[in-house]
Amino acid sequence: MTNKVATLNLGDQQVELPVISGTVGPDVLDIRKLYGQTDCFTFDPGFTSTASCESQLTYIDGDQGVLLHRGYSIEELSEQSSFMEVSYLLLNGELPSKQELSDFSYTISRHTMLHEQLSTFYRGFRRDAHPMAIMCGVVGALSAFYHDSTDIADPVQRKIASHRLIAKMPTIAAMAYKYSVGQPFIYPDNKLSYTGNFLRMTFGVPAEEYEVIPAVEKALDRIFILHADHEQNASTSTVRLAGSSGANPFACIAAGIACLWGPAHGGANEAALNMLREIGTPDKIPHYIARAKDKNDPFRLMGFGHRVYKNYDPRATVMQKTVREVLAALKVNDPIFEVAMQLEEMALNDPYFIEKKLFPNVDFYSGIILSAIGFPTTMFTVLFALARTVGWVAQWNEMISDPGQKIGRPRQLYTGPTARTYLPVEKR
Ligand code: ACO
Repeated sequence: MTNKVATLNLGDQQVELPVISGTVGPDVLDIRKLYGQTDCFTFDPGFTSTASCESQLTYIDGDQGVLLHRGYSIEELSEQSSFMEVSYLLLNGELPSKQELSDFSYTISRHTMLHEQLSTFYRGFRRDAHPMAIMCGVVGALSAFYHDSTDIADPVQRKIASHRLIAKMPTIAAMAYKYSVGQPFIYPDNKLSYTGNFLRMTFGVPAEEYEVIPAVEKALDRIFILHADHEQNASTSTVRLAGSSGANPFACIAAGIACLWGPAHGGANEAALNMLREIGTPDKIPHYIARAKDKNDPFRLMGFGHRVYKNYDPRATVMQKTVREVLAALKVNDPIFEVAMQLEEMALNDPYFIEKKLFPNVDFYSGIILSAIGFPTTMFTVLFALARTVGWVAQWNEMISDPGQKIGRPRQLYTGPTARTYLPVEKR
């Protein structure tokens, strides 16, 4: 709280609104008592000017293109850290010591297996089901298998549920893939790293030894870091809102996965690569740019634009560098990368994109890397969900541990009919 107050003049009434400062970033007007004092709500569809909670996890400065987790920049973390270390940081607030990191990685590795009964759950899905549909179902079903970690009032159970979710997500995701291609499920191998294990469960087969390619493991681990958390985005807010009613963590994360699937959010990485493939060759780029600018055409440049970033998404910078590394390591020459780079250049020099401050976001380049590694486009959002699980879980824990936490209950501006008398059907 600062000493600053904002004064609101509402007809004859004057209301003082306290101004609260965070450690960095814009101040907020505390409107919690506004309705009680004035009989007025605020109106902010899409939460463009509303802080829905207090948080110590992630800071974004969208104008400067800054992203910090617990104070550490995404550039440093993606260059020097590992997904397990970033997960520890998000959950605990500090970087782990060597021993703490080793203990944490060990704990996660001890939860990688799924209850065997869950494999029969998969067989209920059609083979051509979208893996995100399977993820929503299977993650939602976890609470039916792990009753002993659903008491949200117990911090120990919350911790176990958090570890289970982070550890089991790669297994669940890999099984969704295996089911879609008709190959047997591969059990986890805890000798491997978190990311190496996921690669083996996805691409390994029982008939052969699977060798993890270090460059691929590193690139995918970095992609997981880049997706680990992102403040109060749509899926995270969904997890918090679901959790605010006291719902169990497995149900809350399933709600987050459902939200993430939308093409305006996590589904954009799949849509971005599909778009790049549709464009196909650099000569077609101007046509697609013109379509994106045409108000009468619903087409948008996928992987472009962001609610918060009005500058280059720092994750996109790291992603672009990683594309080069992965394509070089796998000796893949993907012409789509050239299309992506030329599309980016053309858009960034176009007055429409300049004026609206539309820059590439994290999804613009990620699809090229994932495709080079061998993932089909339908798995892209699944990988996002896998990595974001730690962010969702950390945000959910932060909310549940907050003594001031209340059920989320937005209000509305009602514009429907006023009270009227019911007419029986024969009189209408
Ligand atoms: N292509 C063309 N025009 C765009 C694009 C785009 N990708 N994104 C925004 N615009 C235009 C809009 O038409 C709008 O124009 P107007 O002011 O003339 O009406 C203006 O820019 C502002 O766009 P909004 O949709 O109002 O911005 P908002 O903050 O609500 O949306 C969003 C952000 C959803 C990300 C949007 O930029 C978009 O749809 N991008 C494409 C999908 C995408 O890449 N999503 C991934 C986001 S990152 C993530 O979830 C990990």
